[in-house]
Amino acid sequence: MTSVATLPARDPAARRPVPRRYLMCRPEHFDVTYAINPWMDTADPVNRVLALAQWDGLRAAYEAHGHRVEVIEPIAGLPDMVFAANGGLVIGDRALSARFANPERAQEGPAFHAWMAARGFATVAAARETNEGEGDFAIAADRILAGTGFRSAPGAHEEVAEFFGLPVVSLDLVDPRFYHLDTALMVLDDTIAYYPGAFSGPSARLLAGLYPDALIADEEDANVLGLNGVCDGYHVFLSEKAVGLAEQLRARGYQPIGIDLSELLKSGGSVKCCTLELHGVRTAAGSGTD
Ligand code: ARG
Repeated sequence: MTSVATLPARDPAARRPVPRRYLMCRPEHFDVTYAINPWMDTADPVNRVLALAQWDGLRAAYEAHGHRVEVIEPIAGLPDMVFAANGGLVIGDRALSARFANPERAQEGPAFHAWMAARGFATVAAARETNEGEGDFAIAADRILAGTGFRSAPGAHEEVAEFFGLPVVSLDLVDPRFYHLDTALMVLDDTIAYYPGAFSGPSARLLAGLYPDALIADEEDANVLGLNGVCDGYHVFLSEKAVGLAEQLRARGYQPIGIDLSELLKSGGSVKCCTLELHGVRTAAGSGTD
C-alpha cells in the first residue's frame, strides 16, 4: 500500500546480536482439539510433556544468547495460547492486542490485552479489526510488512499503520499451509527471507522489488516452517529441520541456531509463533532501541 525505499545492505562480517525482549507462554495446556489450519489433525495426539521440554529448550536458547524472556500465564481451554506471537504487537510504549479470526482463539485477545495493561505500556488498545499480531505483522526496521488472506483483515493493516505511525506494506497470502505471514517470511538484519510461493504474484513481485537481496527459501524449508524463525541481528533461531535455509544464512554471515519444536509443528507453529517480540522504539533512520 505504501511505497518505501529499500534498506542498504550491511557488511556480513559486521553483524552483531542485539539483546531483545520476548514474551512467551509455556504450553501447559497445549493440545490439538480443533483444526483451523492444514497442519492441525485432531486425530494425531500431542505429547505435552515433550512440547513443554521443547519449549523450555527454546526459552533457554534465547536466554543463553542474552535475550530477556517474559512470560504470560497460560489459560486452560486455550490450547493455542503458546503461540504468543499472535497476541498482538508491541513497539516502544505502544501495545495493540489481537482480535482473532477464529472463535476457538477469541479469548486469547483479552488475555494478552490484560497482560499488556498490567505490564504498564503507556498506550494499550484492543484491535478493532481482525488482527493476529506478529503472526501477520512483521516489524522490519522502519516499516511493517503485513499479511492478509487467511487471518488478519486488510483493514487491520490500516489500523496498525495509524496506531504505530509506520508505513505498512500489505501482502496477500495464497497458500493455506502458510496462513500467517510469519510462516512464509522472516525478518533478518538488513533483509528478509521468504518463500515466494506463499504470496500472490503481485505481492511476490513487491517483495522482490523491496528486497532484491532477500534469501529465497525453497518449498522444503518452507514446509518445515523454517521461515518461522527469530533473528537478533546475528543469531537466527529456527527449526533444525530447515537445513537449506540454515546454509544460506551462514553464507550471509548469520549464525543459525537449530531448534526442535516438532510437537508444536502439529499445530502449525514453530519458533517465531512462540515468540512475541517487545520491540524498542523505531526511529526514522530505521534503528530499533531497546
Ligand atoms: N494453531 C495455531 C493457529 O492456527 C497456530 C498459530 C501459529 N502462530 C503463528 N504466529 N503463525 O492459529
